[in-house]
Amino acid sequence: MWASTRASRVPGSVFALMDAAKERARSRGLSIVDLSIGSSDQTPPDAALEALRAATRDPGTYRYPLFSDTRPLREAAAAYLHRRFGVGVDADAEVLPLIGAQEGLAHLLLAVTDPGDTLLLPDPCYPPYLGTAAVAGLQVVTLPLLAERGFLPDLGAVPQDLKPRALLLNYPNNPTSAVADAAFFPGAAAWCRARGTLLIHDHPYAELTFGGYRAPSALEAGLEGVVELHSLSKTHHMGGFRVGFAAGDRQALAALARVKGAVDFHPYLGIQQAAAVALGLPDEVGRAGAQVFQQRRDALVPALHALGWEAALPQASMYVWARVPGLTNSVAYAVRAAETTGVALSPGRAFGERGEGFVRFALVQPPEVLAEAVRRLAGVPVQEPEQLLAP
Ligand SMILES: Cc1ncc(COP(=O)(O)O)c(C=O)c1O
Repeated sequence: MWASTRASRVPGSVFALMDAAKERARSRGLSIVDLSIGSSDQTPPDAALEALRAATRDPGTYRYPLFSDTRPLREAAAAYLHRRFGVGVDADAEVLPLIGAQEGLAHLLLAVTDPGDTLLLPDPCYPPYLGTAAVAGLQVVTLPLLAERGFLPDLGAVPQDLKPRALLLNYPNNPTSAVADAAFFPGAAAWCRARGTLLIHDHPYAELTFGGYRAPSALEAGLEGVVELHSLSKTHHMGGFRVGFAAGDRQALAALARVKGAVDFHPYLGIQQAAAVALGLPDEVGRAGAQVFQQRRDALVPALHALGWEAALPQASMYVWARVPGLTNSVAYAVRAAETTGVALSPGRAFGERGEGFVRFALVQPPEVLAEAVRRLAGVPVQEPEQLLAP
């Protein structure tokens, strides 16, 4: 009775189903190997934790933080963007602290769109994109991300007369782990500018890159008409701290600040201080953290190939996206796998129609645990019982 039309439009999550399946496995005495959630198991940098500890001892940090209090974090974010991507931003007008990228996106959509506007977003995609689009009352048009195009969208295939209000992209990508090269964002930004579309780039995996690959920033294509969302959740293992920042087009950020001003205050000052310290750490600190995920990738991908599954070796992110031969119902498969083996994966369908036939592994366990997970999965039938019975 009290659910608004807006709330009712938010799609349900298959993660509740997975949670119930894990619970059933537990009640059968199975140990759970949870690879279904991309929550880093690493600890934040010591220097960031020390800054937070020191802040909690300072009663001056306990008040509501005002915009002027966010200056040190805004300046740290601007310095990070300059050091890492060669992008210059005005720390007063072109950077805004967030309570995580997800909060930032939800409020950004409310700030820059009107109900009924069109949002172009990838399929598959991070599921909350669909929820936040529903909250904002947007018409979603999906861009297929296909293996044969390296899971990059084909903007040239979008009908000429479609002029979306915003295009939402995310590279390194969740769930596919695909990456963009240096030419990608300038091309996407030019496409957006020609159509009067705001380019929103969700960039929480910016530093989780492997080998020689470096993830570009969409802001390298210029700030006008581009907003990028950064997060310390993955890059600095601070997911529970809820902190990130938006940077880019000053009009869009002013609108975001206005909406946020009505809805929330900024993060606790101690968390801002910890985030500012983390952003200022030498790049090697982030690279050492990324290597942990790289080693896990190197353990998992060959084991999946031995099962006959198709998975590219990701150059970034904390996921492996695997196509499972014969898989037609990834949700039923993931529930079955969790119930019978205790191994929890994300079904590809949870990320959109184009995700069917795939599963996503989050690299949040050590290599030997990933190897054990694959051993357990080897015994789980991929096909549905009725398919197995078919002549
Ligand atoms: C693509 C993407 N965007 C945003 C988030 C959430 O980021 P935050 O913790 O900063 O809200 C995630 C978390 O998994 C993600 O994969």
